[in-house]
Amino acid sequence: MSHLENLDPILNELQQKYTAIDQDTQTYLTGLLYSKPITYWDYIQTDALLNLQVQRTTLPDEMVFIGYHQINELIFKMILWEIEQVAENNALTAEFFESKLMRISRYFDMLSTSFNIMREGMDVEQYMKFRNTLTPASGFQSAQYRLIEFASTELINLIDYRFRKDIDRDTPYTHAFEHLYWQAAGKDYHTGKKSILLINFEKRYKEEFLRFMEAHNTKNLWTRFKELPKADQADEDLVKAMRHYDYTVNISWVKAHYNAAKHYIESGSGGAVETEGTGGSDWKKYMHPKYQRRIFFPELWTEEELNNWGEDI
Ligand code: HEM
Repeated sequence: MSHLENLDPILNELQQKYTAIDQDTQTYLTGLLYSKPITYWDYIQTDALLNLQVQRTTLPDEMVFIGYHQINELIFKMILWEIEQVAENNALTAEFFESKLMRISRYFDMLSTSFNIMREGMDVEQYMKFRNTLTPASGFQSAQYRLIEFASTELINLIDYRFRKDIDRDTPYTHAFEHLYWQAAGKDYHTGKKSILLINFEKRYKEEFLRFMEAHNTKNLWTRFKELPKADQADEDLVKAMRHYDYTVNISWVKAHYNAAKHYIESGSGGAVETEGTGGSDWKKYMHPKYQRRIFFPELWTEEELNNWGEDI
């Protein structure tokens, strides 16, 4: 219970706040008289949140699949929240940069180390059944995952290696978009034909992606890092944090994801490696970090490290 004599300064501040926007403080105080006390469930919106896990089948393990994907999307949102603070900071310091990077990494560490919930947490037989009801959808269509990539690195590092030499900073975004590495999961480069996985994804998100790519061209994590004073760019802790983030997203997570896919798709099909992912990709080749060689900050790795990227998986 606060003491009455402490109320004056607060009332003064409230008065200042509302006068500044031409509002009557008295009305707001009267409103407070009738406002409901907040509860945990209203604030966290638990009812809404816990109503979002809707199964398409009767198989119990589908709940694990839906729940874990939703947890990933929530964590992706929190990662983007932190990245955006670096992107928008007008007085960026190495200290701020590093602390945000560590937050982002902790989230991604959590996603990599928890991936066993997917790999071990579902019955293969059930997975092989309920996955049929998901086709042609795939985690490939997670827009937030793509936003994290656009906001982390220079666009060129997300371009399919086969086309990098023809793409530079003057290339129109629409052209670069067609040559992003992930187009390979759903596009036949000889005929130009796109799979339904890709067509649906682009119909929903392409415009947003193009705007986001352009906006982050000059404020992704790498360009912001390069804006720091040279001494900060050489700061051991900061470089370590950058490398850790790169490794976690592009090796640890990719590896955990690949192993989960391998476990279900291969063992569920009795080792028939040609079985497709629900999105229809040549998954075994497409998902392996050794083939994709996604690297956010190539300048921070030695030549040997770059050459061996993903080889230990
Ligand atoms: C048993 C669990 C999982 C399996 C078997 C699996 C399988 C696959 C496969 C085969 C692909 C390639 C595209 C396709 O043909 O569908 C893919 C892509 C993808 N999945 Fe998963 N996935 C699983 C869990 C997850 C989870 C929990 C997430 C988190 C959101 C996720 C996010 C993604 C992303 C972002 C891609 C695109 C990656 C890229 O382009 O390299 N997946 N997944």
